[in-house]
Parts: sequence; structure tokens; C-alpha cells
Amino acid sequence: MRNKSEQGEQSRRKMRRLKIKEILTTGQPGDKILVKGWVRTKRESKNVNFIALNDGSVIHNLQVVADTSVYDAKLLHDINSGAALSVTGVLAESQGSGQRLEMIAEDIMILGKADPDRYPIQPKKHSLEFLRENAHLRFRTNTFGAVFRIRHAMAFAIHKYFNEKGFYYLHTPIITASDAEGAGQMFRVTTLHAQNPPLTEDGKPDFTRDFFGKPTNLTVSGQLEGELGAMALGEIYTFGPTFRAENSNTTRHLAEFWMIEPEMAFYDLKDNMDLAEEFLKYLIDYALINCSDDLQFLAERLKQEEKNKPMNQRSMDLLEKLSFVSQSDFVRITYTEAIEILKNSKPYKKNAFQFPVDWGIDLQSEHERYLVEKHFQRPVILTDYPKEIKAFYMKQNDDGKTVRAMDVLFPQIGEIIGGSQREEELEKLEKRMKEMNIPIEEMWWYMDTRRFGSAVHSGFGLGFERLILFVTGMGNIRDVIAFPRTPKYAEF
Ligand code: 4AD
Ligand code: MG
Repeated sequence: MRNKSEQGEQSRRKMRRLKIKEILTTGQPGDKILVKGWVRTKRESKNVNFIALNDGSVIHNLQVVADTSVYDAKLLHDINSGAALSVTGVLAESQGSGQRLEMIAEDIMILGKADPDRYPIQPKKHSLEFLRENAHLRFRTNTFGAVFRIRHAMAFAIHKYFNEKGFYYLHTPIITASDAEGAGQMFRVTTLHAQNPPLTEDGKPDFTRDFFGKPTNLTVSGQLEGELGAMALGEIYTFGPTFRAENSNTTRHLAEFWMIEPEMAFYDLKDNMDLAEEFLKYLIDYALINCSDDLQFLAERLKQEEKNKPMNQRSMDLLEKLSFVSQSDFVRITYTEAIEILKNSKPYKKNAFQFPVDWGIDLQSEHERYLVEKHFQRPVILTDYPKEIKAFYMKQNDDGKTVRAMDVLFPQIGEIIGGSQREEELEKLEKRMKEMNIPIEEMWWYMDTRRFGSAVHSGFGLGFERLILFVTGMGNIRDVIAFPRTPKYAEF
């Protein structure tokens, strides 16, 4: 037995740690290297142990080969799935298939053991439900490693895109006193005592004694403040967390999600649609070019997952789907035209839609998906919705019935973007706000942009998790955000 730990410690101090991504792309046989990472699997044979080490930099593992005659049996015994290791050694051409290089270990140090009887992430296939319950450790699986590397890449690409176009990143507040969507789905923010709040004379909680001196909530959207920025800086975008207390237990809804909201002065609805389409295609192309390893893994995963489904229910290969969407022109039709199409559709005539179809209804995801997946077979932008089902700030059309709204609908997702041209005429805006019981006085600052230097302007909101769902091909929005918040669930 060699006792190399002192010697190993010295060489470790001298050596620069390399990430596995770097090793696998630029490493050469004979290179002496230091790596640190977590054990994915260990395979024992008579003379050597093969340790698959992953450090999160890339989906691939580095195969570490440990000669059993060199290392203490106790040390090898403790190298289990989940343990953290620091290893020095020499790169060699790999004997096995699947990788170009492997590492012949010269010194192995266990940084942190992982008790195999208690560590939940075993080297076998776990269900996504099980991994959701172990969300603190699920980053250590290939699937979630891939998802969160792609999520990072998409966030970076969003900033890159807007920066290159001259948009400014505006940080709009998380705590607000207004309801941007007017839908009343807000989480209250208060420091008042829950059981014994100070009371007004008529027995109601006295919000003048609350932290902000009035009722406040977590924001549902940064748009209203975003508009203020756009009306001076020209083109801005927000990218932050938004909160909705809607009781939707679906695979598309979160109570806390991230939204990207560009807002542009002098853009009309057509300019807005052009931007949304270009932006989405840019992001998809960015993923195809920069996340190919992770996408290939997820595409293969999806294929395996769908093996048991009948042929006609299988979805398109993930990479094909992404290229297809990035290369096709999005269909642009009005809401009214969409209702016509739906009323003439087979599922409508066969009573196969769960929800009714009539001019004036809010489209359900079954309707959106019919339009996108069956009828047009490409992304669709629907415009000019009935004003009754849209927010107060949307530009009113001359017909008195519709507003200049736009929703971008994607295959498998349904609505990925919602936006509109904004009502820039003070009187029309005030009238609509009164009709909808939006407190005009409290929003004096919003009205001021219509009083001073008002101009045509537009914007939209992209749901970040819905984008990640689409790009990764994952089926549940809870699997594309690190720690999902949903009704009755706020673990971790
Ligand atoms: O359509 P929404 O509600 O639009 C707005 O909030 C506007 N203020 C945006 C704007 O014009 N600046 O939401 C925008 C997008 C939706 O299209 C969807 O992708 C996503 O946000 N979204 C959600 N994502 C996850 N969970 C939820 N509960 C979501 N609600 C909306
Ligand atoms: Mg919407």
C-alpha cells in the first residue's frame, strides 16, 4: 500500500482544478490533472474500480480508473454514489467505448461520504414525482443537470438578445400596491399580526399602521412600471419573479414564476408580434447551438419515455421540433378567425372539446392546442381578443368590442406569451378602468404617462418556465424550476 496522502496533498495544492467539460474537450493523454466532483456510479471488477465522476459542468461523466492493489479497501468501500471526491491522476485514451478519455487515478481523497443506505439518488431510474420530493438532490441526476444548465443558458441568452438590441434591463418592484393584471390573484405582503391586527373604528384591519401604510402585495407583473421606463428609455425589459395566487393545479401553472417583459415606445401591435417571433426564434436557436449535449440527452430521454405510447400520440423528436419552430413563420390570425376555425373543427362537431366554443369565451388550452398542433401545425399568434376577457390597459379597437391583444401559442404549451399594444389615450383608458373598477386615483403615476408625452407603445410577457418546458421537452412545469411553489406546496 502506498501512503500518498501527504504527497497527494502537495500536488493537489500545486495543480489547478480542471472542470470535466474542459478535460473532455481539450484534455490530452498524458495530462496530469486534478478533478473534483460527485460519484454517479462505481463499477467493481477484480483489479480495478471504475468510478463515474460528474462535476456539473457537462452532462458527461469522467471515468476514473482506480487500481484496487493501490488503494485502501476501506477507501474504495466508501466511494459510493453521491460521495464527493478530489482526484489527481493522468489522462489516458479510454479503452471502453463512449468516451475519448479516462483518468488513471493516482490519489483519491473522499471529501464527503454518502451513506448508500440513506442517499436517495441511486444509480437507477427514478420517477419525476420521486425526484420532485427530493428536489434538493435532483440536480445530481442527468435529467435535472441538463434542465438547469439549459435554464441558465436561456437566461443568459435573454440578456444577450436584449443587450444587443439596445433594450435596457429595468428592475421593477417585487412589492407593489397595485394589481397590474386587475385579476385580484395576489399574495398579500404585511407585517400586521395575523390574529390581532390593529383595527379601524369600523373593525377592519388598519392598513395605515401596516409597514407601507397601505395594503401591498407581491407583484403579478412588472409591466405597469415597465411602461414608465419605456416612455423615457425607449425600450426596456424586465426579468424577474412574479407571483399569482391562482388555484391552478396544472402542469403549466406555478404560484411563483419568472417572467420576461419587454416594453417598447413607438411599437404598434405588428412591431410587437415581430419582436416576439424573432425573440423566441433567437432563444431556440441559441439552445440548439449552445446546449446540444444536454438537448440530445433530453431528446433521447423523451424517446424512451414515449416508447409505450401509440405511434400517433408520440411527439416529434425534440431537436426536430425545435428546428422546425425556429424555421417556420408563425401564423397570425385574429381571435374571431380562430373561433370560426374551432367551430368548423372535427372535435367541435363531435363534441370532443371539454369546454364550450363561442365568441367571447376565454380559449382553453385544448382549443389553443387544437389550433397549433392540429389545424396549423406551427406556432400561432392570436390577436384582437374580446375586451371583456383581457386586461384594462390594452389598446381598444374602433369596433368597440375587441382590444389589440396578442397571445403566442406553442405546441404542447399553449400560451407562451401574452401581450398587447397599450391604450395610450387618457380618456379611453380612464373610461375602461372605471368600467372595470380599477382604482384610478391610486394609479395616478400610471395615468401620468398618458398625460405627459403619451405615445403608441407595446409590450409582452414571456413565461420563462413555459419557455424552458418547450425547449427541454419536459412535461411538467414543476420540473423546470428549482423549487416549485404551487397550491399547498412550498417545500425547500
Ligand atoms: O398573459 P399574462 O398574464 O400577461 C401579463 O402578465 C402581462 N402583464 C405581460 C405583458 O404584457 N407585459 O402572463 C404572461 C405569460 C403567459 O403567457 C405565460 O407564459 C406566463 O406569463 N404565465 C405563467 N407561467 C407560469 N405559471 C403561471 N401561473 C403563469 N401565468 C402566466
Ligand atoms: Mg395571458
